[in-house]
Amino acid sequence: MPTALPRSRILGTGSYLPPVVRTNLDIEKMVETSDAWITERTGIKERRVAPDGIVTSDMATAAAKAALEMAGLKATDLDMIIVGTVTPDMPMPATAVFVQQKLGAGVCPAFDLSAACAGFVFGLSVADQFIATGQMRHVLVVGVELLSRVTNWSDRTTCILFGDGAGAVVLGPADAQPGDAKPRGLLSTSILTDGSLANSLRIPGGGTVQPTSHTTVDQNLQFIQMKGQDIFKVAVKNLLSASRNAIARAGMTQDDIDWICAHQANKRIIDQVVARVEVPPEKVLMNIERVGNTSSASIPILLDESYRSGRIKAGDTVLMCALGAGISWGSAIVRL
Ligand code: ACO
Repeated sequence: MPTALPRSRILGTGSYLPPVVRTNLDIEKMVETSDAWITERTGIKERRVAPDGIVTSDMATAAAKAALEMAGLKATDLDMIIVGTVTPDMPMPATAVFVQQKLGAGVCPAFDLSAACAGFVFGLSVADQFIATGQMRHVLVVGVELLSRVTNWSDRTTCILFGDGAGAVVLGPADAQPGDAKPRGLLSTSILTDGSLANSLRIPGGGTVQPTSHTTVDQNLQFIQMKGQDIFKVAVKNLLSASRNAIARAGMTQDDIDWICAHQANKRIIDQVVARVEVPPEKVLMNIERVGNTSSASIPILLDESYRSGRIKAGDTVLMCALGAGISWGSAIVRL
């Protein structure tokens, strides 16, 4: 099968991590756990926490500014703003609206996309369609989460996992550039949801099912609830099929993949997926040890850090895959 021709490409990446570091030793003081347990079961050593005064759209805007700068574009060049998040500034309006305002972007569609940890990959797929049809030229896709504010810090089964942060890319048409050996851009995307596991990972309070009340707050329903084992079991299977799907749709084999940039949910999940996709471990990008699970922000933060540090380079082929609440999952292959 011939390699797919890209329709959109990444013009710039950016990321933002809030300044406060919360280590496993800090969490040992909050719940009955240990650095050894957390490290062995998840690969996480520390995560970032946004201090009071920083909100979701602040982090998204910082990441977006960095991505625009790398792309050599102004905020007013954006034709669309997509923000993947499950921790919006407020239920209405969309966080994307505040990002639009804070960036000084012009009038354009700006909306949030709720696909939890798969939010960034879903956003890439949506942006790619609009660019492919010629309706939009420059689309900002952000993954951002402020999970520390929806985490129950007395629940040891979840509070060890999550961190705050934002990552962003600016996509534009995949017009060939002078010096490109092979066409650069998004070579395939694949997104899916299976609602039968909807209750395995959720924030049950604060919506129309259980509107916020003294009772919902007393019962901690405003915080994340997760059946970790349920998610773990499907994560490996679904991430594997999504990765194989993306490789096949791009007309490639696993040997064509230079890097795997997987959602940083749990090192054990990533290791198992990588072993089965049969990509050598040295091609796997990882920052879970430092940032924890930042949900939709996870992939764009890792992509940006890896690109800016020079580990991955223009022309490299990257496989991204993510799975989270919904459950929703997806994958994408991009030649940078
Ligand atoms: N410290 C010490 N012991 C703990 C802790 C802790 N922090 N948490 C749980 N335990 C205990 C449990 O109580 C249990 O004890 P028991 O055997 O006496 O009952 C034991 O450790 C084992 O618990 P498990 O839940 O079986 O632990 P597991 O190995 O499954 O690890 C984890 C838990 C890390 C949550 C894992 O299930 C996981 O990573 N799941 C997937 C998470 C994920 O990918 N989520 C999706 C993305 S997130 C999003 O969409 C926002």
